[in-house]
This record gives sequence, structure tokens and C-alpha cells, in this order.
Amino acid sequence: MSKKIFSGVQPTGNLHLGNYLGAIKNFVNLQNNPKNFCIYCVVDLHAITVKQDPFELKKNIRETAAAFIASGLDYKKSIIFNQSLVPAHTEVSWILSCVARMGWLNRMTQFKEKAGKDKEKASVGLYIYPILMAADILLYDATHVPVGEDQKQHLELSRDIANKFNLEFNSTNFFIVPEPLIQKNFARIMSLKDGSKKMSKSDPSELSRINLNDSSDEILNKIKKAKTDNEPLPDNENDLSKRPEAENLLGIYSSLSDQSISKTINEFSGKNFSEFKVMLADLVVNKILPISSEINKILKDEKFIDKVLSDGAEKANEIASKKISNIKKIIGF
Ligand code: TYM
Repeated sequence: MSKKIFSGVQPTGNLHLGNYLGAIKNFVNLQNNPKNFCIYCVVDLHAITVKQDPFELKKNIRETAAAFIASGLDYKKSIIFNQSLVPAHTEVSWILSCVARMGWLNRMTQFKEKAGKDKEKASVGLYIYPILMAADILLYDATHVPVGEDQKQHLELSRDIANKFNLEFNSTNFFIVPEPLIQKNFARIMSLKDGSKKMSKSDPSELSRINLNDSSDEILNKIKKAKTDNEPLPDNENDLSKRPEAENLLGIYSSLSDQSISKTINEFSGKNFSEFKVMLADLVVNKILPISSEINKILKDEKFIDKVLSDGAEKANEIASKKISNIKKIIGF
């Protein structure tokens, strides 16, 4: 079956192994199936829900686009653009804000995590951010949305919004109700310092994550210092449930080598972490370093990146402006 794919990544600093294994690697696989039509967006409007330095933001938009391309996204096969270049995203976001219910947003766990204790001081944008995400997806009639596990709840909200709009305006199937594409394994890569926390850009410890532009020395050091327990590696999957750090490192190894976790367990069962870490570091360096050097190469040509993004935006705009004019007709504008 052919799929219409949409997904986005925030340009808020270095992309890490979690973004790559949880999302971008999947973007590339989906793109490489010629039956799929793929749109990948650098979601800069989402980024400003927390304070950004304008100079850094511009740099991060280019870096995220460069990371897309360096990871294997091809602007000739997929539409690659940044969100702020297509005004329909903000326009539809407002319209959908009038469809979504406060109660739905109040349940969003990511807002609670990001806003922390002082909710009163969080931006309104951070609160309604999942509605902008719904606008991104629904504007393009996306049928499938590849994301990591942490975005599952936001996807469910997009589905609720699509259904409510269709029902309220008597427009069956006008908005396509999108399906999340969350990988069964490795959809949640955890921090290298704490196997119960997801790997995240906002973790203050650099040692908690491997960035896509880390040098080999940085990768080796981070894996060497990754938290483990004191047992040798297990000989079956069931033993992993109480060993989150072992599960995460074995998961990273499996995902990068495209093999099942049970195959990785067979390879390393009974070995010590120190031995396993040497192999893991080797694998991460082999897989990530080519991406990192490609990112740096692409970043030297800002004009090229800007052109990829603006050409992509032109194509996106064509699709989005048709959809928004239909939305307006339905609403009565
Ligand atoms: P963002 O920028 O936080 O993350 C980008 C993608 O990376 C995945 N991800 C992870 N996957 C596995 N393990 C991790 N530790 C990990 N950390 C991040 C995320 O699940 C995501 O797929 N709201 C979105 C961006 C967005 C979007 C959209 C996505 C805006 N509009 C429309 C899909 C469709 C976000 O903040 O992702």
C-alpha cells in the first residue's frame, strides 16, 4: 500500500542517537520505498515555544536540514523544508485550536514535563504545541507519521482533532486520520547515564547522549562512561526488564546493526560490559562518524541548504494552500 508520510524534527540543538534511531533512520527507509510520498519538516515554529537565540536558531535550522540529508534523506525523492516558510501551518493551527478541547490538552504529559513545576511561566505556545503538530500532519493528508514513542500521545491528539473536525463540519474523511508509525523495538532510546530517562537534547549532561556530530573520541568516551550494572550480559531477553541500562545499550547495538535484540544477546551473553562496550563504541563510530562528517561537509554550503529548504517549501506550499482553501470553504469563510 502506498503511504503519505509526514514527520518533523525540532531544530533545537544537536540531533542525537535517539532522534536518529527513533525517527530519522525510519524516515530514510520509508523514503526509499518508491510507493511512498514523503514530506520531512524542520519544525522551527515548534522550536520557539521555548526561548531561542535568533542566531542559534538559524544555525540549528540549517544543521537539522544537513543532518536529514547526511542521514540519507534525498531532496529529490522527499519534500524537505522548514515549517515557517509555509504560512498555512500557523493558519490551520489557529483553526484547529478552535476544534481541540482544553481537556484534551490538559492530558498531554510532555507539556507537564517540559513546563515543570512553574506552569504559569510556560509559554502559551508550549501548551498548544500539539495542535500545531496536528496542523502539520493534517494539512498534507498524511496517512502515516513516523515518530519515536514519546510522540505517541501527540499523534493520538491529532487523530482526535481530525475526527472532531470531520464530524462537526459534516465532512466525512476530509481530514485523513493519521496512523503513527512507531518502531516495535528501539522506539525509545534512553539516556546513557540513566536507563529510566529518555535520551534528550535538554538533558544538561552531555554524557547522557551521543550527538550526530560527535567526534570519535567523544563517542568512545561517552560509551566508556555509560552507566551499567555489575552483572555480566544476560543470556535471555526476560532478564532485561530489571536492567534498563543493559537493555538500552543492547538495543542501541541491535538497532545500529539492524538485528534483533535476541541475536545481540546471543552474541554477547555472559560477557562483561567492558568487552561489550568496546564493540558497541566501534559500531557507533562506524555508523555515526560518516554522518557527522557529511553534516560538516554540507554545512559549509549554506546556499545549498537554503535552496533545498526553499524549493521544498515551494512544493509544500502548493499542497498546503489547496488544503487550506478547502478548509476555509468548509468553515464558511
Ligand atoms: P523532536 O524534535 O523532539 O524529536 C524528533 C523525533 O525524534 C524522536 N525522538 C526519539 N526517539 C527515540 N528515542 C529518543 N530518546 C528520542 N528522542 C526524540 C521523536 O519521537 C521524534 O519523532 N513534536 C515533535 C516534532 C513534530 C512532529 C510534527 C513530528 C512537529 N510536528 C508532525 C511528527 C509529525 C518533536 O518535538 O520531536
